[in-house]
Amino acid sequence: MSKALRYLSKTRPQAATNLMGFYKHSVVALDEKTRFLIQIVTKITVGTERGLRQYAPKALKAGATKEEILDAAMMAFPAAGLNKLLDAIDILNDLDLLPEVEEDSSNQKQVSKNLGALDQFPVGRMQSVKRPDGDLIVYRATADQIAVYDARCPHSKANLCDGTDHGDRVECKVHNWTFDLESGNCIEPRIDGKEQDLIKVAVAVVDGNVILQG
Ligand code: FES
Repeated sequence: MSKALRYLSKTRPQAATNLMGFYKHSVVALDEKTRFLIQIVTKITVGTERGLRQYAPKALKAGATKEEILDAAMMAFPAAGLNKLLDAIDILNDLDLLPEVEEDSSNQKQVSKNLGALDQFPVGRMQSVKRPDGDLIVYRATADQIAVYDARCPHSKANLCDGTDHGDRVECKVHNWTFDLESGNCIEPRIDGKEQDLIKVAVAVVDGNVILQG
């Protein structure tokens, strides 16, 4: 449940219950996969990133293929227009919910494993590192202690480089999950399970530079 719905369920419990009840009981004939694919079309049409990030993974979980998710996105085009469709394609790509594209290996560039000089990462501040092979977030807890994480939020893969920087914590802008940057642990919401935590990326400091391992 989003932070906003949690808020409404406390301040306007009857309205929130009725609203959730409407969503739950209004559609009876469509199967789950079809409902989630239609949700993709509507979320793209109204231009809600939060909704698309919420429902597109549900469509996959309900049995939709990545081709079907792409088809659903394309069906939004007549009503949504090109800009919303392209934004949606970026989000679906970010969520790894689009069919693979065969890359011409002769055009692939080698991506450097060097994230930069250790000293360019200030102590106690989150830093984003944008990379063609996936964005990273870097946190230097002390002068010689550095942690690097996959920037995709473990919840629905929003980019935490766009999250709110709270110094030693980062808060996802989509559903407000919050992570401790020293340990990578999810601290809000508190649910047991490793899959909640940030994915650590192995690095070593070599000659004053932060180098990706593996
Ligand atoms: S994508 Fe939902 S909290 Fe980050």
